[in-house]
Amino acid sequence: MSAPTAAPEPVAGDPRTPWSGTVRRTAEGSIEVGGLDVRDIAVEHGTPVYVLDEADLRRRARAFVTAFTSAFADLAGADVYFASKSFASVAVDRWVHEEGMHVDVSTGGELAVALRAGVPGDAIALHGNNKSTAELERALRAGVGRIVVDSLGEIEHLAHLAGALGLPAPVMIRVTTGVHAGGHDFISTAHEDQKFGLSLASGAARAAVDAVLARPELTLLGLHSHIGSQILDLAGFEVAAGALLTLRAEVAADTGTLMPELDLGGGYGISYTGADVPPTPEEIAPALAAVVRRACEELGSAPPRVSVEPGRAVVGPAGLTLYRVGTVKPVVLDDGSARRYVSVDGGMSDNIRTALYDAEYTATVAGRRSEAPTVLSRVVGKHCESGDIVVRDVLLPDDVAPGDLLAVPATGAYGRSMASNYNLLPRPGVLAVREGRARFIVRPETEEDLLALDLG
Ligand code: LLP
Repeated sequence: MSAPTAAPEPVAGDPRTPWSGTVRRTAEGSIEVGGLDVRDIAVEHGTPVYVLDEADLRRRARAFVTAFTSAFADLAGADVYFASKSFASVAVDRWVHEEGMHVDVSTGGELAVALRAGVPGDAIALHGNNKSTAELERALRAGVGRIVVDSLGEIEHLAHLAGALGLPAPVMIRVTTGVHAGGHDFISTAHEDQKFGLSLASGAARAAVDAVLARPELTLLGLHSHIGSQILDLAGFEVAAGALLTLRAEVAADTGTLMPELDLGGGYGISYTGADVPPTPEEIAPALAAVVRRACEELGSAPPRVSVEPGRAVVGPAGLTLYRVGTVKPVVLDDGSARRYVSVDGGMSDNIRTALYDAEYTATVAGRRSEAPTVLSRVVGKHCESGDIVVRDVLLPDDVAPGDLLAVPATGAYGRSMASNYNLLPRPGVLAVREGRARFIVRPETEEDLLALDLG
C-alpha cells in the first residue's frame, strides 16, 4: 500500500492522471468536467452522482480500436470488445459501438442492454460460467457472434439447444492457462483453483476442443483466455497468448482444424490515484501482436484473428463520483497521531471496491481551491458499518468542511455496475457530460423505486 498523498491536480496528457480528459481546475478553483462546473452539476442534479465524460470515453474506445486494427493489420486483423460488465448501459454500449467496438456480455441483462443499444447480434459475445438455458436461447436467437463456453456440460447443452432451434452456434472455449495476474485474488481468473474456464494443464481444455469438434451443431471459432483484472504488466498476457497458440497448433496437427480466432480477454489496469502508469492501447496492441507473430512463426501456423475485451480501461477513467461532505470528525489513533474522518452522502453502496478489494482511490475538494495545509483523511460513507470506506487514506486540506464537494476520480468502471441499495440508499444516477451539456443516461433511483419493489 502506497503512502497517502493528495489527489494529483488534473493535467491534460499526464499518463499517470486518474482524471478524465476534460477535467480541469477553473480560474475560480473548482473542478470542471465536460465543460461543466461541478458546483452547477451538484446544484442541478444532486449528489452523490456518477459523472461520465463522454468525449473521454469515446476517445479511449477509439484508441483501442485504432491501436489493435493497426498492430494486427499484417496478421489476421483484430476486434475489440467492450466488457460491458464494467458498466452496462444503453448509451455507453451505443457510444463504444459507434467508435468501432464490439460488446461482450455476461448475462441476459447485459445482452438485453446491448441489443437495445442497437449493437448487432454478430458483434456481441456471450460469456458466463453458469449461463441459464434462457440466456443461451436468447443469445442464439439474437445471432450472437460467439458464445464462450465454460464447461463440458455446457458444450453438450448448447449443442442440444442449437440443434433444437436450428440456429448456428459459434463457440469459443474459455481456457485457464495457469497465469495468475491482477489487482486482487478475487479478480484474478486464470489460476487453477477457481470457477472459470477449462484447464490447460489437466487436459480439460483439449477435451473441450474435441467435444466441440464432435458436435456438428457447433462451430469452433477459437480459444479464449482472461487472466485477471487491473493488470499493469503485460507479461501475463504474453504467456497466456503463447500457451493458447500452442494448444491451437496441437489441435491443428491432430485434427486438421486450425481455429480462426483467438481471444485474449480484458484486464488492462488504469490509474486510480496517480501512482501507477498504466499501459496504453498503443503499447498493449503491438506487444500482443509481436507475441502472436512470433509464436505463429515458431509453430508454423497461420495467425488467428485476435480479439481483446477491455472494460475498465475504457469506462473507468471516464467517470468520477461527486459527493457532498456531511460531517468532519478528527479521530486520534493509537500512536497519538490523528486522522480526519470525512463523511460523504454515499459510500459502500455506490463504491464497494474499497471494502471488497482494498482498492485505492483518491479524492479532492472539488468546489473550491484550498491553500490550507493537508491532513491525513479518510473518506467514509453514511452506511451502518465501519468498513464503509470510499478512500482509505488521502491528504485533504485542513479546512475541508460540511457542504464541500468531493470528487473521487476513476469510478466509471465497477462503480454503478456493482452498486447496491444497502441501508435502502437509492443508487445514484449516471450523468453524461459533454461540451457543456449534461443528461442522465441512468436516472437516479428514488425512494419510490425502492418502495415499489416492496410488496408489503
Ligand atoms: N473479459 C472477461 C471474460 C472478464 O471476465 C472480464 C472481467 C473482462 C473481460 C473485463 O476486464 P477489465 O478490462 O474490465 O478489467 N469487479 C472487479 C472486476 C471484475 C472483472 C471481472 N471480469 C473490480 O471492480 O475490480
